[in-house]
Amino acid sequence: YDATPFLPGGRAGLPGLRKAAAQCRGCPLHEDATQTVFGEGDTSARLLLLGEQPGDQEDRQGRPFVGPAGRVLARALGDVGIDPEAAYVTNAVKHFKFTTPEGGKRRIHKSPNLREMTACRPWFLAELRLVSPEVVVALGATAGKALLGSSFRVTEQRGALLPWPDLGDGGEAAESVRGLVATIHPSAVLRADDRDAVYDGLVSDLRVVADVLS
Ligand code: URA
Repeated sequence: YDATPFLPGGRAGLPGLRKAAAQCRGCPLHEDATQTVFGEGDTSARLLLLGEQPGDQEDRQGRPFVGPAGRVLARALGDVGIDPEAAYVTNAVKHFKFTTPEGGKRRIHKSPNLREMTACRPWFLAELRLVSPEVVVALGATAGKALLGSSFRVTEQRGALLPWPDLGDGGEAAESVRGLVATIHPSAVLRADDRDAVYDGLVSDLRVVADVLS
């Protein structure tokens, strides 16, 4: 599994990357997903937000974080004074992975595995080179593992400015990135019994991001 052969040569801009990613067959996830959901937003953003993979709505609409989790994220960013429109938003894996229990119509999210995450990584590295953000936010365990490896634990590492890891890309992106802040995935707020407390935790982690950018 590897997306590398599908990447455009040279220094493609966002439209060029998106167009090429739409044809990616670097892992089997393209087979069942509706479409590639590439990152979007301001390519000169100081902040890059990294999610896990598109959800049901994102898969249908072809845009990241346009569903319920995206609404939680936008509200939390607003609460700490970050304009969601001023960020670049993407996912570690660009296709929706799901199961359909009993062959029904409901599509249930399935976490991507390490091979799929690794296969998709060249797209993220290309986005990182393009945007050159100052801060990267990993939303949830999968995004955290994509950046920090399988030993990453959200509960232990959230809400602090962590040093930027070596992503094996020759350190090119690291020139701009001051660090990485990990937090929970916004969808965890929607699943929680104590939604308010979980939401407040997300907001306080994002406040660290706002402080670094201020
Ligand atoms: N969850 C994610 O991780 N990414 C999306 O784009 C939507 C939901």
